Amino acid sequence: MTTPFTGAIIILLTAVAVSSLSSSANALGGSASTVAVVYGSATTICTIIAQQPLKQIQCWQNGQLLPPIIPITSFDYIAGGRDTLCATRSGGFSLLCWNTTFNSKRLYNNYSAPLTYLTIGDTQICGLTNNSSRQNVICWRGNDISSAQTSNETLRFRAISSGLGFSCGVLEGTNRVLCWGDESISLSIQSAFSNFSMLNIQVGGRHACGMDNSGLVICKGNNGNGQLDVPSNSSYEYIGLALGSNHSCAIRRLNRTVVCWGGNGAFSSNVTDEIPFESIVAGLNFTCGLTTSNFSVICWGPGWPYSSGIELPLQKSLPGPCLETPCECNIYPDSQTLCFGNGHICRPCDDAVSIPPPISQPPPPPVTSHRPSRRLRRGLLAFAIVGSVGGFAGICTVIYCLWTGVCFGKKKVHNSVQPTITGANAAPQSNSSPPSRSSTLRRQGSILMRRQRSGTSSKHADRAEEFMFTDLVAATNNFSSESKIAKSDVYGLGVVLLELLTGKRALFKTGENGGAPISVVDFAVPAIMAGELAKILDPRVGPPEINESEAVELVAYTAMHCVHLEGKDRPSMTDIVANLERAFALCDDSHGSISSGPISIVSD
Ligand SMILES: *[C@@H]1O[C@H](CO)[C@@H](O)[C@H](O)[C@H]1NC(C)=O
Ligand SMILES: *[C@@H]1O[C@H](CO)[C@@H](O)[C@H](O)[C@H]1NC(C)=O
Ligand SMILES: *[C@@H]1O[C@H](CO)[C@@H](O)[C@H](O)[C@H]1NC(C)=O
Ligand SMILES: *[C@@H]1O[C@H](CO)[C@@H](O)[C@H](O)[C@H]1NC(C)=O
Ligand SMILES: *[C@@H]1O[C@H](CO)[C@@H](O)[C@H](O)[C@H]1NC(C)=O
Ligand SMILES: *[C@@H]1O[C@H](CO)[C@@H](O)[C@H](O)[C@H]1NC(C)=O
Ligand SMILES: *[C@@H]1O[C@H](CO)[C@@H](O)[C@H](O)[C@H]1NC(C)=O
Ligand SMILES: *[C@@H]1O[C@H](CO)[C@@H](O)[C@H](O)[C@H]1NC(C)=O
Ligand SMILES: *[C@@H]1O[C@H](CO)[C@@H](O)[C@H](O)[C@H]1NC(C)=O
Ligand SMILES: *[C@@H]1O[C@H](CO)[C@@H](O)[C@H](O)[C@H]1NC(C)=O
Ligand SMILES: *[C@@H]1O[C@H](CO)[C@@H](O)[C@H](O)[C@H]1NC(C)=O
Ligand SMILES: *[C@@H]1O[C@H](CO)[C@@H](O)[C@H](O)[C@H]1NC(C)=O
Repeated sequence: MTTPFTGAIIILLTAVAVSSLSSSANALGGSASTVAVVYGSATTICTIIAQQPLKQIQCWQNGQLLPPIIPITSFDYIAGGRDTLCATRSGGFSLLCWNTTFNSKRLYNNYSAPLTYLTIGDTQICGLTNNSSRQNVICWRGNDISSAQTSNETLRFRAISSGLGFSCGVLEGTNRVLCWGDESISLSIQSAFSNFSMLNIQVGGRHACGMDNSGLVICKGNNGNGQLDVPSNSSYEYIGLALGSNHSCAIRRLNRTVVCWGGNGAFSSNVTDEIPFESIVAGLNFTCGLTTSNFSVICWGPGWPYSSGIELPLQKSLPGPCLETPCECNIYPDSQTLCFGNGHICRPCDDAVSIPPPISQPPPPPVTSHRPSRRLRRGLLAFAIVGSVGGFAGICTVIYCLWTGVCFGKKKVHNSVQPTITGANAAPQSNSSPPSRSSTLRRQGSILMRRQRSGTSSKHADRAEEFMFTDLVAATNNFSSESKIAKSDVYGLGVVLLELLTGKRALFKTGENGGAPISVVDFAVPAIMAGELAKILDPRVGPPEINESEAVELVAYTAMHCVHLEGKDRPSMTDIVANLERAFALCDDSHGSISSGPISIVSD
């Protein structure tokens, strides 16, 4: 039976298969891991928003901001290609990709081997994992690394990049370049780099550039448009590189301005002469950069369809992923603020002599890396007490309605009232027939309910059993995006979700803490923020199964977002519905990856 949800899951498989037929399709890289260029049917620029509790994705297309990208959760790395956007969820445990209508598909999910890097090429989506085996590269779709000229050496890469039909990586230890994919080009590029010891590499259309261990930028491959003619070659002159199909750009290390070459000279613009950049990323025939002064995005080049050098109206973006792992070299000075206290941002290593970016005005309280500071925790507690006035009203309303069914449970649910998910995200819902949607929700709701029932019977479990998720979702069908649902009700809903996850009451007593009552918010939110969700899940239910874990995590993130201190920072009901629907869909979506599977290893 095809439900809207399984329908919504077909996705990228088709998109990628179709795009791989088009030889001009590509996705080219750059030094930016938090800015992505998607092109093809529409030019779209996406970044990860800074200074928010959730590191969510924002996108700009055709001169306007797109509605929030679903699911609304935190991401580390993003990358774009032709009609494809991909991102790793915070912690790297899973990889999501979106097609042009922003329907998401999960390509990877493994809690014991998080992804530490992501690149998208013509037909390829590749990443690095942290596993310690002899191969740490994984590709979904596209070229097989078995086409690489490997001996029996280990395939552990320090950096990878995908371009038009081929990918290259720099091996850990030997610093040798290894390329795979379209053999007509990958083998010649690999052999052109064979005498160099490289630190990193970027792949373009039919060329590749990287920095060797003496800090020189080395470019090899096709030079038909001057893309190999690095304007100057002194050691450590450049930091980030970005390569398009016919051009190359680099950030000058000393003043962080950008210089481009190739593309028959069409890229040597003076637009960027005065602007310092943190990172750059290339599309086919244009380049975008993240400015140092205020982390806004500027694009330029002959293929940029809008005026060059104008700031895009995006919110301040993260200059790099917020990670918990220690930095190899430097840390951003205002990292804590940018990451909202959840992780820190590392600066590239060959960066030591450069001018640090000006410290921006820090609005939210800076907090320590792993856990929210005492201040935030106390803030949450204070809110739980003071805010109970408003909070309880919301909680009570929602719970009362759910228990009695008076508000909507027993009422005939009008399935025709779809949640209004504006713009691009609306597609799958509007295509689907209402009855199947309702029955799917019932079925999926009962999946979660079964989880609850399998726990030992207790007051809490009984109560949880009475709580019908289906009713909740059915209820939210009645809210349109214009709904005036109060943000305090959103808070109440968040608390209910946290109660469901943890099996605890809104206020409960613990043995620790002198038996003083603690709010479920104060109990759960710090753990969710620290990525320690497992510690707070209701132990009577047992750990989530593989296909449930992401759904549970998504519900947790949603709940955390709902109980945000500032009402204005809480999500809208529409966003919540979208996230919950996504979570339900995940329970059905047990396939972790698309058909092509990971690339294989050549043993000899
Ligand atoms: C994106 O994926 C959805 C769900 O599979 C599909 O309905 C839609 O047609 C796709 N859009 C494109 C442009 O491929
Ligand atoms: C997850 O990664 C671990 C370690 O690399 C591996 O042993 C395991 O098979 C992977 N699990 C899945 C489901 O791929
Ligand atoms: C990879 O990450 C997982 C989860 O964070 C961690 O448990 C594991 O030890 C890491 N493995 C390596 C080789 O670093
Ligand atoms: C490590 O990751 C690679 C690429 O995903 C995979 O092929 C390999 O099986 C993994 N090794 C282990 C031990 O999980
Ligand atoms: C490759 O394998 C051969 C035997 O199969 C072995 O003698 C040689 O040392 C191996 N080389 C490396 C780099 O592991
Ligand atoms: C690499 O160095 C060797 C020995 O110096 C030389 O014979 C070979 O031509 C060089 N290869 C390239 C691609 O420059
Ligand atoms: C670097 O530039 C100098 C002159 O500017 C030139 O002599 C030298 O060959 C160049 N080195 C490389 C590796 O291109
Ligand atoms: C790159 O150059 C080739 C030939 O020089 C040309 O066919 C192709 O259209 C160019 N690509 C772009 C994006 O300009
Ligand atoms: C950039 O160059 C154009 C002509 O090439 C010139 O008109 C313009 O004033 C220059 N802008 C700056 C900021 O130098
Ligand atoms: C940055 O350095 C380059 C090369 O040294 C120079 O041409 C450019 O004018 C400098 N830009 C600024 C804004 O200082
Ligand atoms: C970013 O800084 C530039 C000056 O460097 C300024 O013109 C622009 O308005 C700033 N943008 C934002 C969003 O603050
Ligand atoms: C840039 O590339 C796109 C294809 O992605 C093409 O339609 C457009 O004409 C190109 N623009 C220029 C100026 O080459």
